Amino acid sequence: MSGGARKPLVRALDVRKSFGETAVLRGVDLEVQRGEVLCIIGPSGSGKSTFLRCINQLETYQAGRIYIGDDLIGYRESGNRLLPLPSRQVVLQRRHIGMVFQQFNLFWHMTVLENIVEAPIRVLGQPLAQAREQAMRLLDRVGMTAKANAYPMKLSGGQQQRAAIARALAMNPELMLFDEPTSALDPETTGEVLAVISELASSGMTMIIVTHEMGFARQVADRVVLMEEGQIRHEAAPEQFFGDKAPARLKAFLSTIH
Ligand SMILES: Nc1ncnc2c1ncn2[C@@H]1O[C@H](COP(=O)(O)OP(=O)(O)O)[C@@H](O)[C@H]1O
Ligand SMILES: [Mg+2]
Repeated sequence: MSGGARKPLVRALDVRKSFGETAVLRGVDLEVQRGEVLCIIGPSGSGKSTFLRCINQLETYQAGRIYIGDDLIGYRESGNRLLPLPSRQVVLQRRHIGMVFQQFNLFWHMTVLENIVEAPIRVLGQPLAQAREQAMRLLDRVGMTAKANAYPMKLSGGQQQRAAIARALAMNPELMLFDEPTSALDPETTGEVLAVISELASSGMTMIIVTHEMGFARQVADRVVLMEEGQIRHEAAPEQFFGDKAPARLKAFLSTIH
């Protein structure tokens, strides 16, 4: 990490979210430094997806604060109150956050290349030639050059996910969010997707990855956190997190995964 003041890229402070009566995020506190790779693990239903979706404004949080750099996500402060931002400002804030989903979420009626150039052209106003050139570079990076003109339904899950990663990267994000990126994949294609994510991690991209792939988390993460019942309950560097001295509760959870 370079010198100077270490200011986190992501700061979540006491973030809370309920769906109706159900409190899903119950005071999430978390910081992610620039260039850091953070893995989140935790039981199903503990709020991991909801937390990522709040960062990316696919959901709104109801209390607390999420900052990306200096931006307060989704709101402006007025005294002690949070006032929702107009959608045009939400679009600006979301521009530099890439998200990759379990189910790939490619546009089915577009080729891989069209999927990748869509947002840079529509949101950033890039000229087509520039957007295509960048898309081809990204497809090369994820090993998908040969599939540029294929439609998603002709691709394996692993290929679709690598295309989805290229699509997210095309917005030149400063933060990448991955929500169980390999849990819908066959074991044969999981490795190729994890390899792409590892390469991205070593390139210095700031990333938050929700995953159940413990070997991968151990290898790629700078820090691992356990989320339970809408809170961050434990955090440590991977050696400690997966080590012998981890708290009993964490060990019990880890033993359910393997
Ligand atoms: N849109 C929604 N409406 C109502 N409940 C939801 C919604 N999204 C998630 N939940 C609930 O919030 C809880 C946490 O879900 P989620 O964030 O998906 O957990 P995780 O990703 O850790 O499995 C679950 O109980 C889930 O049913
Ligand atoms: Mg989830």
